Amino acid sequence: MLVTAGPTYEAIDPVRFIGNHSSGKMGFAIADQFASEGADVILIAGPVAIECKNKTVQRFNVTTAQQMYDACMKHSAKADVVVMAAAVADYTPVKTENKKIKKKEDTFQLNLKKNPDILAEMGKRKKKGQFLCGFALETNDEIENALKKLHTKKLDLIVLNSMKDAGAGFGYDTNKITLADASDKILTFELKSKEEVAADIVSYIISKIKLSGI
Ligand code: CTP
Repeated sequence: MLVTAGPTYEAIDPVRFIGNHSSGKMGFAIADQFASEGADVILIAGPVAIECKNKTVQRFNVTTAQQMYDACMKHSAKADVVVMAAAVADYTPVKTENKKIKKKEDTFQLNLKKNPDILAEMGKRKKKGQFLCGFALETNDEIENALKKLHTKKLDLIVLNSMKDAGAGFGYDTNKITLADASDKILTFELKSKEEVAADIVSYIISKIKLSGI
């Protein structure tokens, strides 16, 4: 199993970066849950201050989206299941300054370029029998947007988080998810602890794998 978790940080200069509020808790809970089911788990983690409970999880730390991409490409071919829970920065500065940017004008513009879409690339390279699961964090038209991501990235499952749900998403110890599969079947869950949510996601994936006979 290959699991990603946490944010990525994109350096602007030696003291500043573009990042997000992902705590990594959801991805770490999924890695732990797979490991407790006896799976060999590789966890690619962005910069977070948490640890896996299960010591069998093999963890690789990365900082940037490009590093996460490289690590995922290195390990994904041998994975039967990939769960991409990381909140990857969509854009990175065109140029990282090697000296601290000094305050000058009243307005300041930063030139950004698109980062590689790790999950979309894994969808393109998907080997027969491999199960790909992505996450979607949405503020509006949630199901529609999540299904679009599921199909364009060639996923088998997408885990939808809505910013409209209290107690769900970044920073909380709880989460409320909706699962959508490749046949557009939708399953909605109650607000639960991230460990319980991880158990729901992992048991759903395991049941799908058993059905497909991997
Ligand atoms: N993802 C990825 N690489 C990126 C951006 C996102 O692998 N550069 C993955 C995330 O880990 C997640 C899924 O794609 O599993 C959806 O991420 P999200 O940020 O919700 O969607 P985007 O495709 O980036 O679209 P948008 O930000 O426009 O909603």
